[in-house]
Amino acid sequence: MTSSKISLTRTSPHRPPADHLRLQSENPISWVEMVDGRRLWVLTRLADVRAMLGDSRLSSDRRDPRHPNHMPYMAPDRRQQLIEMDAPDHTRVRRAILGEFTVQRVNSWRPRIQEIVDEAVDAMLAGPSEVDLVEALSLPVPSKVISEMLGVPYADHEFFQECSADFSRPTATPEQRGAAIGRLKSYISDLVQEKIKSPGDDLLSRQLAAGVDPEGVEEMGFLLLIAGHETTANMISLSVATLLDKRGHLATLLDNPELMAGAVEELLRYFTIAEIGAARLATEDLEIGGVQIKAGEGVLALTNTANRDPSVFPDPDEIDFTRMARNHLSFGFGPHVCLGQNLARLELEVVLATLLRRVPALRLTSPFDELSFKEDGPTYGIHELMVAW
Ligand code: HEM
Repeated sequence: MTSSKISLTRTSPHRPPADHLRLQSENPISWVEMVDGRRLWVLTRLADVRAMLGDSRLSSDRRDPRHPNHMPYMAPDRRQQLIEMDAPDHTRVRRAILGEFTVQRVNSWRPRIQEIVDEAVDAMLAGPSEVDLVEALSLPVPSKVISEMLGVPYADHEFFQECSADFSRPTATPEQRGAAIGRLKSYISDLVQEKIKSPGDDLLSRQLAAGVDPEGVEEMGFLLLIAGHETTANMISLSVATLLDKRGHLATLLDNPELMAGAVEELLRYFTIAEIGAARLATEDLEIGGVQIKAGEGVLALTNTANRDPSVFPDPDEIDFTRMARNHLSFGFGPHVCLGQNLARLELEVVLATLLRRVPALRLTSPFDELSFKEDGPTYGIHELMVAW
């Protein structure tokens, strides 16, 4: 068993941390000490990560203090969310919501998403010709889309943004995180009571009609808001910033709009913003990639590094819109693979295509490498993205 000390903090938006890449080439499955002193297995190759995320002997249940994602502020008796359930509960709850996020169902939202993006761009163009794109577009678009899907009045979107920011801010204390969760949960709880009294044509009402108990519907509503908001916003900001920085890629996309889906996929692979979620706890002894993992040991997939696995992605540090790398791990893999991946792809596609078409003069006001990146949060992203046209 080898041991070295690693940090999850990224030092560049363009590459995974150097010590993660070193592990991939020298010791792809390593027993490491994290900077907080905990020890766990880290996996850095794509094939090993897929084996791990597809293995039902590795648990997502964070209530166990040995789980890498266990947080001491979590009340032990609280109801679990989908993302931290294991089979058979996970299978049952996921099956009840899956129909809301199929490609077909999500595509039926395309016209409304286009309107939402157009409205945000209209508002942006009506003001001064320099804005923070995070505030103008990246945060409001996914917030409005998921709010409408759930049946949440848009008037409350600022409230969600504030709570989400309080929840995910790296410097937030456990009390601040707990308070943000409390505010959101109590709002959603009231909303679900409203839906019981007067159901609408929305996701929460349909979950109730399908027989999911009100508490379960509340948990799902809360998870969808948290899981889909900042993640999608971060990917929008990083993607726009990259296209404005790498003008060659922008020109390729303008000349070949049919490459948009490939561009979205490649940008998802390149930034792999949500690797911290891919952590599990071994419930039995098992083997991955020839390495023995014992029951009770934590395992973390460094998906950002695995998405640069040169045996799967030739020239992995290059952005290539024709790569068609749908086998990347940016949405995870296996039973917990991102429920909202079709929605996230669609939102990214619509936002990027709309900006290219409607604001061709868009430019960054400072060099890409000087942007303020979210280095310590649960998802990678950009705090502020000043653009002009
Ligand atoms: C670019 C945007 C997004 C990224 C990068 C992302 C990433 C991920 C990843 C890596 C996982 C797997 C976690 C694990 O294995 O433990 C996940 C799960 C999940 N995501 Fe996303 N996500 C995004 C957008 C969304 C959206 C838009 C929604 C919904 C509105 C959403 C809802 C969920 C849910 C509910 C799960 C839990 C699924 C389960 O446990 O069965 N995500 N996401």
